Amino acid sequence: MSELSIAVFVSGGGTNLQALIDAAGEGRLNGRISAVISNNSGSHALVRAANAGINGYHISGKRYPDGSDFVTAILEALDKHTINLIILAGYMKLLPIEIIRKFKSRIINIHPALLPKYGGEGMYGLNVHRAVIRSGDMLSGASVHFVDEIFDHGAILIQRTVPVLSDDSPESLSARVLRIEHKILPMAVRMFL
Ligand code: GAR
Repeated sequence: MSELSIAVFVSGGGTNLQALIDAAGEGRLNGRISAVISNNSGSHALVRAANAGINGYHISGKRYPDGSDFVTAILEALDKHTINLIILAGYMKLLPIEIIRKFKSRIINIHPALLPKYGGEGMYGLNVHRAVIRSGDMLSGASVHFVDEIFDHGAILIQRTVPVLSDDSPESLSARVLRIEHKILPMAVRMFL
């Protein structure tokens, strides 16, 4: 494989997308971000994509009552850019099973905890950090893993830890974990290659 053609799926602010854009700009990615796909039209990640001259797509399940039309819309965007790696970077939806099967071993996800702990249904964004603080764990971190058909389950590519401080709020822990996420996500893309 020569240069990777990457699609990044996002839902929110897109700081992980920005870390990937910056890494690509500095020649640290071995890949080109060809498309950004968001389920949320108001996602700041789409603004980041536009600022970087990357094609942005708003593809939401809500606009496609028929699930197969939703899958087709995603596949059309992916085919248009001959995508060979999908990165879920703060994508708060389950990817349709058809896409997971078609891109088997070519989808990675970043998760804001040390999987297999704090993964699965309902474990996203600040919910994860709330659960970690409630548990009394002294370590948290971030994981990049391959996506398979089970939620937050596939093989782990890379993990890094951060301390959980006694006065942490979900927001302060999230900020510490995000700093690690921004480092390990571009590293994971290089490992993938
Ligand atoms: C990140 O912390 C990411 O790990 C998390 O959402 C945040 C998105 O931030 N993803 C999940 O919780 C998915 N289960 P960003 O939009 O600033 O990159």
